[in-house]
Parts: sequence; structure tokens; C-alpha cells
Amino acid sequence: MFKINDCHNVNDFRKLAKKKLPSPIFHYIDGAADDEVTYRRNTQSYEKCSLIPKVLNNVDKVDIGLKIMGKRIDLPFFLSPTALQRLFHYEGELAVAKAAEKFNTFFGISSLSTVSLERIREIKTPKIFQLYFHKDRGLTNSMIDKCKTGGIDAIALTVDTITGGNRERDLRTGFTSPPKLTLKSLLSFATSPSWSLNYLFREKFDLPFLSEYVKEGTDIQVSVSDYFSNMLDQTMNWKDAENVKKKWGGTFCLKGIMSKEDAKKAIDIGADAIMISNHGGRQLDGSASPFDQLEEIADYVSGKIELICDGGIRRGTHMLKALSLGANACSGGRLYLYALAAAGQKGVEKSIQNLKNELLRDMKLMGCTKISQLNKKNIIFF
Ligand code: LAC
Repeated sequence: MFKINDCHNVNDFRKLAKKKLPSPIFHYIDGAADDEVTYRRNTQSYEKCSLIPKVLNNVDKVDIGLKIMGKRIDLPFFLSPTALQRLFHYEGELAVAKAAEKFNTFFGISSLSTVSLERIREIKTPKIFQLYFHKDRGLTNSMIDKCKTGGIDAIALTVDTITGGNRERDLRTGFTSPPKLTLKSLLSFATSPSWSLNYLFREKFDLPFLSEYVKEGTDIQVSVSDYFSNMLDQTMNWKDAENVKKKWGGTFCLKGIMSKEDAKKAIDIGADAIMISNHGGRQLDGSASPFDQLEEIADYVSGKIELICDGGIRRGTHMLKALSLGANACSGGRLYLYALAAAGQKGVEKSIQNLKNELLRDMKLMGCTKISQLNKKNIIFF
């Protein structure tokens, strides 16, 4: 059995997560929509261009930190909000937040978090809350209110889940929240004894942001796709986004913008940042990749809003390419989720450290000592 010290990259953690998790849980993380074309493209698109290094530049000291959404972070990337983390490892969001704190980067917390804000607020790292706009306005407003008093630094309103994506792996495995034991899945739970014991005997599964308001996801088992389709408000529009921003009153980001026209509208409603993202390929299969859209959006907005390239990142060089083409920062979900599943906080720390080592090495090899030195001249498309 190989251990976390043998995990040198995200894909190694993926393999370890696959061994540790019951298959419905693994495929929930690993899977995407329809034929998963967009999921694959998200990573492949970084290979459409190459980096052009410069040499003899004294790269003894390299700083890979930057400022994003009002906070100085020590890495050029952060941990995107992802749902249901205690299903992947019993330490859940607490593990991810503590790992983010060690590296001083943003930790993303989902509306579908399995840990409450009270328990996360003491962890001193910048925090971005991922807001899902629910039909139940009382619920949506209660989350904004919790953010105001709960130590949240920015809200990311998610705009790419207006209906659930077609996640066929989840349909096949029967993945729901909370997980249900079916005859089909029983075997895979039985063959992941440590996961199953942790799930059964540690703290009861809960979604504390939601469970006071809705039973779906906690008392009623639903797939994430059905949750989106039935619980989120499909009438959501730009005016609603603007109202959320006003009600919140703090740093505001839209997660899931993919075109320059929508980037312009985000500027018009006064958003501070957008995450260029297709939800890890889990929503609209056939959608462009964030990296493919980045340059056009960056040229169009010319610095009027911060751009976060979210999706497909597996390597330090992917980030150097995105930062060269105009991203103000990068982010990712699976790049730490496999590691969470494989080994809790220690795993997440190792995965971040791997990427940090790559970034430091690659910056030196590029002849750069600061992120701000990266620009389009470093890149050639072919
Ligand atoms: C998902 C949501 C919950 O993609 O972010 O499953």
C-alpha cells in the first residue's frame, strides 16, 4: 500500500483516494457531467500553449504570493469551495481550513458544508463562502447573515448551477447526500472498512447551513444534481446577484462566469472578482474550459475586475500559464479533494506542498522571482 509520501502529484492522490473510498463517494468527487468531455478539456487546455523561459536572472529568492479579493496570500492559488467534505474524510472542512491556514491561502466553504462556521471561524486564514441561491429566501438570507458575523472575507455567488448537471456516475452508483446503503453499494462500503467505521461512529452527518431550513440533503436523501434542480431558484438573475452583493456589503465574487459579456455585467453590478469556472466540468458538458476563455476575458476587462482561473489545474506550470495570460489568481477543488480523501489534513498539506514546490521550482526555471513578472510574452500557442 503506498503512502502519502509516495504521492508526488494530484494524480497520485487520486489513485490513493480511489483505494480508500467507497466507490459512490470516489465517483462523486471524480465524476463530471455527460461524457465528461469538459472535465478532461479543463486540464488538457493548458497543453495548447508552452512556456518560454528566460535565463541568467538571479532567481535565488522567489515570492509566489499575491493579493486577491483584498487579502494577501502566500500562494498564487487557493482551495475552491466544495461540498460535503466530511463524506470524503471524517476531518472534513476543518482539515482543509487548517491546511489552508498553514500555507496562508483562501479556504472555500460551501453552503453544503458539513461543518458550521462557528467551528471554522477560529482558523485564521482568509475564507470565501460559496453561496447557493435557494428558492427559500429565508435560507439564502440566513447564510448571508451568518457570513457577516462569522468571519467570512468574501462571498462567491455560484451562478453555474441553475439546474443540476447530468452526473451519470452518480446515477449509476446511487450516490446521495446523506449516502444510502443499497444492495449495490453495500459491497463497496464493506470493502472500505475504515471509511465506513468513521462514517458510522464519528459525529453524525449534517449540513449545518441548510438543515434548519430544509430536510433534503440531511434527513431526505437526494443526489446533488436533484438538490440543485429542486432547491435552487431558477429565476435567479443579475438583479438578484446585485441584491446579494448589497445585502452582504463585503468583497463579492461570482463563481462560474465563462464569457466576456458576463464578465462585463459582473463589473456593472460592482463585483470585485469572478471565478472563471465551469464547476469542474460537472454542469454543462461541452462547455469551454476556463483556461480557454481566460485570455479573451482578461483582455476585455483590462483590470477592472479580478480574475480567478478555476478548474483543471494539476501542475504548477498550469498556474504559471494562467497567471501569464491575465489571471490574478488560480483555484481548484479536486487538486486538494483527492488528498483530503486519501489522508485528511496531512494529505491536503502534502498536496499543497507538492504544488508549492513545483511553483517555486518552475518560477526559477522561468527566470521569474515574482508573480507580477509573468506576462503574455512568456507564452506561445501552437
Ligand atoms: C457539486 C457541488 C455540490 O459539484 O459543488 O457536486
